[in-house]
Parts: sequence; C-alpha cells; structure tokens
Amino acid sequence: MQKPKYHVFVCSSSRINGQQKGYCYSKESVEVIQTFIEEIDSRELNDEVMITNTGCLGICNSGPVVVVYPEGVWYKEVTPDDVEEIVESHFENGIKVERL
Ligand code: FES
Repeated sequence: MQKPKYHVFVCSSSRINGQQKGYCYSKESVEVIQTFIEEIDSRELNDEVMITNTGCLGICNSGPVVVVYPEGVWYKEVTPDDVEEIVESHFENGIKVERL
C-alpha cells in the first residue's frame, strides 16, 4: 500500500456507537470534511493526501479541529471556507496556515 504524504484527521465528533454528535459536528465539521474531499479530488492529490474523520480530540471549544501528520500540525476553528487555503498552502506548497 502506498503511504500518503499527508494524513489529515478531522474531528466530526463521531461517537463509539457510530453517532455523530458534539461540538465539531455542530460547527460544520462534516462540511469541512466534504470540502477537503472535493478540493483534494479537484487538485488530483488523492495519492498524497488522506482524509479521516475522528472522534473528539479533546479541545472542543477550538473546533472544528484538523490535525495533519506527519508534522503533527493542529488547526482550530476550521470552516469550509478555510479548506482551499490549507490544501494549497500546506499540502501543495508545504507552508502551514499560521492564522489557524
Ligand atoms: S468534538 Fe471535536 S474536539 Fe471535541
């Protein structure tokens, strides 16, 4: 299996019972995930960037939370409108989006 260059975890407040309920979910995290998928698809970065939704990452008041590995960069309060900038700056050019 080919390893992605970036593995991106987006909190969708998924619970162990399969429910999505919680702070990040209530703040459009599902739309953030969908926008990441569309943006990565349109830029043909599917082999380089993998998106995974997660359960609570423990800093709910800063949600929606996005964590990028291998660097371990945490982005907070991410909205669907921020996704294009993260994909272009971080994943295409290797520059973290400091404002987030
Ligand atoms: S629900 Fe997303 S960090 Fe807690």
